[in-house]
Amino acid sequence: MENIVPFLVRAMTESDVAAVRQLETASFSDPWTERLLLETLQCPYDESWVLTGSRGEVCGYINLRFLGDEGELMRIAVAPGLRGQGLSRRLMDRMVSSAREKGARDLTLEVRSGNETAINLYKAYGFKREAVRRGYYRDPKEDAWIMWLRSLPGTPS
Ligand SMILES: CC(C)(COP(=O)(O)OP(=O)(O)OC[C@H]1O[C@@H](n2cnc3c(N)ncnc32)[C@H](O)[C@@H]1OP(=O)(O)O)[C@@H](O)C(=O)NCCC(=O)NCCS
Repeated sequence: MENIVPFLVRAMTESDVAAVRQLETASFSDPWTERLLLETLQCPYDESWVLTGSRGEVCGYINLRFLGDEGELMRIAVAPGLRGQGLSRRLMDRMVSSAREKGARDLTLEVRSGNETAINLYKAYGFKREAVRRGYYRDPKEDAWIMWLRSLPGTPS
């Protein structure tokens, strides 16, 4: 029988804020508040997308910011119990589509130097480390890597 994939990516709305806040709390040491999440929904430069399961439940999300011809991956998270199944790629693919739609040639992000999982994912999408901010993070103290994906294929030159 055909394997039906129950996961969908759709634009985040205000009704998702509480669920995304839970995802933030489960995923980050500095979780974004509901207020901040609402502000990102109102910000004309930001895009937020949720990954939903078969019952419509929020299983992951991504927040992107587009300024000029640059895009920034601000946040990506998949629910802890669903990690390791390739779901983050659904969200990363959405980032690439959004960048093309916005005409963003370059994409950047910041990541903890010890976040091997995320770094592997970003490298798989063509991001390369271009700079390090020493001791940038607190709790725990850690360097930040600044990564860039230059000249995304398929964007206007
Ligand atoms: C980073 C995160 C979004 C990845 O989501 P995921 O759905 O588990 O990742 P996937 O299963 O789609 O894996 C995608 C790639 O990530 C890397 N990866 C995934 N799990 C990994 C692990 N345990 N160790 C090392 N690399 C791993 C691999 O490159 C993998 O590709 P592959 O399967 O072809 O080898 C998820 O771990 C998460 O939500 N972490 C907490 C929040 C976070 O750290 N966000 C990034 C902040 S900058």
